[in-house]
This record gives sequence, structure tokens and C-alpha cells, in this order.
Amino acid sequence: MVNNLSLVENEPRYWEFIRGLRNDPKIASGFIQQTSISPLEQNRYMQQYGNCFHICLLNGEPVGFVGVIDNDIRIACKSENQRQGIAAYMLSEMVKKFPRAVAKIKIDNDASLSLFRKFDFKVKYYLLEREVK
Ligand SMILES: CC(C)(COP(=O)(O)OP(=O)(O)OC[C@H]1O[C@@H](n2cnc3c(N)ncnc32)[C@H](O)[C@@H]1OP(=O)(O)O)[C@@H](O)C(=O)NCCC(=O)NCCS
Repeated sequence: MVNNLSLVENEPRYWEFIRGLRNDPKIASGFIQQTSISPLEQNRYMQQYGNCFHICLLNGEPVGFVGVIDNDIRIACKSENQRQGIAAYMLSEMVKKFPRAVAKIKIDNDASLSLFRKFDFKVKYYLLEREVK
């Protein structure tokens, strides 16, 4: 557990931080959508959804993000800061604001599944995707 955490509203100065984290292969592997995000794509996306994101600061430096879009939560923490309670801190704040939000988790993402379960999320659905050969 680390002290000196705060959750702040997203601003354009954090857009590249989010993109960098999202494009980090270790982080991207946890997400359903895994294609690399270009600066232009990020810019467009953030123009539309940037206000849905919050940034977690550790001693003033960004270490993670959480976004809730259409009641769907996405969350990530920098690899070097994982297992320090940062995602738990972000999620604890988000469930207060969005008690009915859901999370779509890849079936092999044990870390994320365990994180959400800690906050009383239960597996309610299976999402089936056809393998196209
Ligand atoms: C999932 C993720 C956000 C967790 O971030 P984190 O800051 O390391 O998580 P925390 O330290 O707050 O851990 C909170 C709980 O999550 C679970 N957890 C986190 N990392 C875990 C791991 N590697 N293995 C198993 N459980 C894990 C545990 O239940 C943990 O509670 P505990 O410490 O009491 O065991 C982080 O691993 C990540 O960014 N992954 C890549 C992106 C991703 O998969 N996002 C989810 C898509 S929505």
C-alpha cells in the first residue's frame, strides 16, 4: 500500500500518459481491444471520452487511469507500480460514483478478475465471440 495517492480529473496533459500505458504490451494484453493507438486516434478518442477518465497520481506523478464509459469500467496501473493498491484505490473511488457500472474482463485476466471481485463484482454473463479462421 502506498500513501500520497490522489485521483484527479483527466486533462489533455495526461492524454499521452494514457496512450503510453494503453500501448504498453504488458498492459494492452489485459484489454479486449489490443491494437496500438496512434497519437491522432488518441486525440480523437480523448476529445470524445476524455472527461470519462480519471488519473491516479502518486506523489503528483501519473501512475494509473480509470475510465467509465457507458457504465463500463476500464482501469490500468503502470507495471512498475502494480501490487501497491493503486487500482484498488481507483476502483474504490469509482464504485462510489458509479455503483452500477460493469467491467468486461478477458477470460485469462486473473489480476483484473480478482481486483473486481474484491469490490463485490460477480460474474453474471459470458460474452461469446466466434473464432474466424
Ligand atoms: C489489473 C490491474 C489494473 C491491477 O492493478 P494493481 O494496482 O496492481 O492492483 P492492486 O495492487 O490495487 O490490487 C488489488 C487487487 O487486485 C488483485 N490483483 C492485482 N494484481 C494481481 C495479480 N497480478 N494477480 C492476482 N491478483 C491481482 C488482487 O485481488 C489485489 O488484492 P490483494 O493485493 O489484496 O491481493 C493491473 O494489473 C493492470 O493494469 N493490468 C493491465 C490492464 C488490465 O488488465 N486492465 C483491466 C482491463 S478493464
